[in-house]
Amino acid sequence: MDPIILDDYTRAGEAAEYIAKQTALRPQIGLVLGSGLGAFADELQERVSIPYANIPHFPTSSAEGHAGNLVIGRVGNVPVAAMQGRVHYYEGHSMQRVTFPMRVFCRMGIKGVLLTNAAGGIGAQLRQGCLVVLRDHINLQGANPLVGSNDSRFGPRFPDMSEAYAKDWRALAIQEGKRAGMDIFEGVYAAVPGPSYETPAEIRFLRTIGADVVGMSTVAEVIVARHCGMKVLAISVVTNMAAGILDQPIHHAEVLQTGQRIRGQFTALLGSLIPQLAIS
Ligand code: HPA
Repeated sequence: MDPIILDDYTRAGEAAEYIAKQTALRPQIGLVLGSGLGAFADELQERVSIPYANIPHFPTSSAEGHAGNLVIGRVGNVPVAAMQGRVHYYEGHSMQRVTFPMRVFCRMGIKGVLLTNAAGGIGAQLRQGCLVVLRDHINLQGANPLVGSNDSRFGPRFPDMSEAYAKDWRALAIQEGKRAGMDIFEGVYAAVPGPSYETPAEIRFLRTIGADVVGMSTVAEVIVARHCGMKVLAISVVTNMAAGILDQPIHHAEVLQTGQRIRGQFTALLGSLIPQLAIS
């Protein structure tokens, strides 16, 4: 007998069904906590932590600094689903695998996602430890997660990306960040495949084409989240200045350390921001 090959709509539905059995909470907002930023999920109220490996069809990560749990809980009155870590294209996963969690969020009935990541700072005003709310992106990963046949139960063949990052959510994030006294900016994120960091020449190129920060994640998730009609906010933590800006090499340890250093501030920002996102 031929094996039955399930489509992503069905597979994501099975994952969502499994998750719904682990808790009575029905998340409204999905969070993806990037490198070194997973701690926020440990503070959720009424939380249930589900290892990715237990969720049907869910991809599991090998990257250091990524715990690999989906934590369901509350921020104030708002039920959320928080991913502690994500899988990356550079790990060898297909774009379809990388973005499968967004399909699961969609099938859970989540209305919007807040994606976070560690990024290299390109813009002149940026410093290590500051935050950049993404206004737009440039996809240089050489792949798009929507390539292949389109499943119209998720969304249209040619989704619009002219305002991928919700304007009102961006404004709220900037406002909350400033209120908390944080160094926070708006900017454009260039997504590269990695895993090698960029060369100084590549960073000069990225600056020329209008990028403020560079990283190896997020954009594919944004495309899929928008494809299935979820609202998107994304925030980069500038964990290091991009290659060639300072006269020093980039180490992954530094990326994780910066994430940990601003963890308290970042957690406080998410805590005050999420209840506002939920009502707008
Ligand atoms: N480049 C690409 N990805 C990154 C960087 C960087 O400098 N820092 C954190 N993620």
